[in-house]
Amino acid sequence: MTELSDSGFKHIQRLFENHTGIQLADHKKMAVANRLFGRLNHFNFDDFGDYLSLLDQTSHQRELQIFIDKLTTHETYFFREKDQFDWLEEHLSQYKNQEPSHTISIWSAACSSGEEVYSLAMILHANLGGDGWNVFGNDISEVAIQTAQVANYPIKKAQRIPKPYRNAYCLKGVGEFEGKFTLCEEIKRRCMFTSHNLLQFDQETSIKFDIIFLRNVLIYFTPMKQKEIVDKVIDRLSFGGHLFLGHSENIVRDHSELEQVERCIYKKVSL
Ligand SMILES: C[S@@+](CC[C@H](N)C(=O)[O-])C[C@H]1O[C@@H](n2cnc3c(N)ncnc32)[C@H](O)[C@@H]1O
Repeated sequence: MTELSDSGFKHIQRLFENHTGIQLADHKKMAVANRLFGRLNHFNFDDFGDYLSLLDQTSHQRELQIFIDKLTTHETYFFREKDQFDWLEEHLSQYKNQEPSHTISIWSAACSSGEEVYSLAMILHANLGGDGWNVFGNDISEVAIQTAQVANYPIKKAQRIPKPYRNAYCLKGVGEFEGKFTLCEEIKRRCMFTSHNLLQFDQETSIKFDIIFLRNVLIYFTPMKQKEIVDKVIDRLSFGGHLFLGHSENIVRDHSELEQVERCIYKKVSL
């Protein structure tokens, strides 16, 4: 099996950081090589050098996406860190009481394969009905976004969905979809997915979100990049809106616009 040289690994580190903002630690060299071997086989390359030259060619943007997908961590599951969903459910009434024409906008900023988005949608539907809200999911990985859009999950993943929601919103696959499940149309039609890099914010858009989930992604960035991302995300949060971070990411400091209301949940209290 071909070896990844130190200079080859440095090349990968640079390329990956340039595109995602994430630094791959030096001790990850073997793990990185293992994740990429399949791509070398796919192209019949004996050498990492050939693969890296291919990635450097602008005509291989599709492969660059696969490279990013292979090296990012997509672990996620329905109702992950469930206490935050419980908290949201308890506090949704404050959003209900806004002007009737207001559509509640929720953003799952690094949504992986969509489980977080659909968990939010089930809660919103159960508490607010089928209209007046939307959930937007973004992720840098196009593969993850496609999985989210297709929404055919292994049936085992449904075990984490609370039973009343499972009964109300999940459909068991039959025939070619045996062993899988999907979400019903009332849920799917309120969920929108696009691939997007958190570090490349569109300055032009003025969309504000009432609720933002930015969970289990900041840990992959340096403190400087974390601050850059959190600053931009806060800018997108409506006054009075809530920001949810992952349980291991209690890293919102020096942001006077935010007030902590619960572990890893923050309210925007000034503009
Ligand atoms: C561990 S998953 C977290 C998924 C979900 N938020 C959760 O808590 O279960 C982290 C996700 O962040 C995405 N990601 C990494 N860097 C990103 C970036 N620069 N912009 C957008 N998404 C990114 C990865 O592709 C991955 O799907």
